[in-house]
Amino acid sequence: MFFYYMKSLLITGGAGFIGSHVVRRMVNNYPEYKIYNLDKLTYAGNLENLKDIEAKPNYEFIKGDIQDFDFVNKIFQDKNLDGVIHLAAESHVDRSITNPLEFVMTNVVGTVNLLNAAKNHWGIDLSDKRFYHVSTDEVYGALGEVGLFTEDTKYDPHSPYSASKASSDHFVRAYYDTYGLPVVISNCSNNYGSHHFPEKLIPLCIHNIKNNKPLPIYGDGKYTRDWLFVEDHARAIDDVFHKGKLGETYNIGGFNEWQNIDLVKLLCDVMDEKLGQEVGTSQKLITFVKDRPGHDLRYAIDASKIESELGWRPSVNFEQGLEKTVAWYLANDEWLNNVTSGNYQDYYSKQYQSS
Ligand code: NAD
Ligand code: DAU
Repeated sequence: MFFYYMKSLLITGGAGFIGSHVVRRMVNNYPEYKIYNLDKLTYAGNLENLKDIEAKPNYEFIKGDIQDFDFVNKIFQDKNLDGVIHLAAESHVDRSITNPLEFVMTNVVGTVNLLNAAKNHWGIDLSDKRFYHVSTDEVYGALGEVGLFTEDTKYDPHSPYSASKASSDHFVRAYYDTYGLPVVISNCSNNYGSHHFPEKLIPLCIHNIKNNKPLPIYGDGKYTRDWLFVEDHARAIDDVFHKGKLGETYNIGGFNEWQNIDLVKLLCDVMDEKLGQEVGTSQKLITFVKDRPGHDLRYAIDASKIESELGWRPSVNFEQGLEKTVAWYLANDEWLNNVTSGNYQDYYSKQYQSS
């Protein structure tokens, strides 16, 4: 199996949840690479996530917006990039329902800007170049009670978020087919772990339990997601980037399906134990609220291709991962307080106001 080595690697969205885990892993594991983290620092981007590696000699942060082509193009010229791992995105389904255009601008236009800059800069000698686009299982739409998403599942996105990610995936493939740009794509299931912004189900519930606030469950709570510990996703990204075949797609999943209501009950029990409360205390906060429009019933990934071709499998089981995640949030009050002050309060009251 071929292993690509890069000299100058751009990671976009590296100040976000998954991006920060990817940056940390790459900076620590590949000291011979120069790693540039390009991030706009939206509400979801936070340089506190990278305090432990920010002084490393092979790391540099660049603040900027992938919606700005001239800026992106200049980075390619100045830094002589030979690899890209593209994670920058608007990532929250609920926000995409209130502001779809921002998702088009970052997720579609931003991705095409990066593809164009790579095409301009890399020219015809593409032998040691790689453009890796990190995507989501939501592009495949919703499953019924049985079945799994494979790499051949037809795209059928339902939310503005998943439609924008599907569109960006199509552009990435089009640049492979049309210009021979050396691309690889992965589509991953729901991640959880440290540094996850508390607008998403798991960190939102952890934050609310800490503050004795209701735990909002959309609809009947029977919606199902396949959860993967974020450090396992970062390892999969490392594997796909270095060993994945050009032009291919790899599905990444946790082999770990949970209905939302069961997941939140388990989380409540872990929180009660960690907080030294009687088991059952946090479950009393569970509140059923109005459903998300266009809510996909079930996602579940068949990750057998990445397992058989690249030898990747999740290493952390859900109970271990959840326990590590809760421990991190309880030990990092300051991080949670910082990200939930100011604009977060406005977002929260608008999102949950009529629930
Ligand atoms: P996140 O929202 O936590 O982080 C996104 C990062 O992108 C932030 O640091 C933000 O500042 C940056 N960003 C946003 N717009 C930008 C712009 N215009 N220019 C430059 N930077 C910009 O997201 P995440 O959950 O870490 O997801 C990262 C990627 O992984 C996304 O592409 C997402 O679609 C994909 N993904 C996420 C999950 C998941 O469960 N979170 C699962 C599968 C795939
Ligand atoms: O599947 C991968 C996707 O997972 C990623 O592409 C997205 O970027 C990421 O945000 C995540 O999307 P989801 O919509 O599945 O994640 P979220 O945490 O928002 O919701 C998980 C489930 O919980 C979903 O069925 C909606 C439900 N939910 C969510 C929130 C925020 C609730 O019931 N109540 C809530 O308050």
